[in-house]
Amino acid sequence: MFANKIINWYQINKRELPWRNTQNPYFIWLSEIILQQTRVAQGLPYYNNFVEKYPTIKKMADVDEAEVLRTWQGLGYYSRARNLHFTAKYITNELNGEFPSNFNDLQKLKGIGRYTAAAIASFAFDERVPVVDGNVMRVLTRFYEIAEPIDKPKTQNTIFEIAQDLISKKSPALFNQAIMELGATICSPKNPNCLSCPIVESCASFKNKSWANFPFKAGK
Ligand code: ADE
Repeated sequence: MFANKIINWYQINKRELPWRNTQNPYFIWLSEIILQQTRVAQGLPYYNNFVEKYPTIKKMADVDEAEVLRTWQGLGYYSRARNLHFTAKYITNELNGEFPSNFNDLQKLKGIGRYTAAAIASFAFDERVPVVDGNVMRVLTRFYEIAEPIDKPKTQNTIFEIAQDLISKKSPALFNQAIMELGATICSPKNPNCLSCPIVESCASFKNKSWANFPFKAGK
């Protein structure tokens, strides 16, 4: 079935990335914020630098915002860095340094939306909640030929529910890493490598040669 196939594929083919070898919610949060609008190759040195400079959330909370912004320099979208620092201080000072440990509570934090909350809840705390980013939406809209526009919240909710049904009961974190990795490395926007795909036999848009039509966007 879907989950087992992509997990097996992932375990053989995954890229070694430092945030995949930790269950520390602070490091996972940091990596997801950096990777939100940034490619892995560009984000990696920043991630390593942040972890070295601020090895604990308290270390980040104890420096000025200006310093965090300097460490962020070059990544763009500076509100990400401001929210990072704000939430580091909030968790350190208001939550006694205890990182919220479930999907619902995580979404209450500034700068943490549904995607980031799901990533932290599943990777750090093994909660069975799906991550749905651009990669995941591409995989699922192609696999099922979902023709609804992915830039509409209604479609995003539908895809979230589909992913919720598919997610592995035993290994939610591995499932989430696997489907994201599949979207990032095999099911790419242009020229997907379908012949290396572990779920190609059941993929509707491979069968119908329609992958270029998915995901569909309504636009403005
Ligand atoms: N992009 C966003 N989150 C990621 C992750 N955890 N691993 C690789 N690429 C990502």
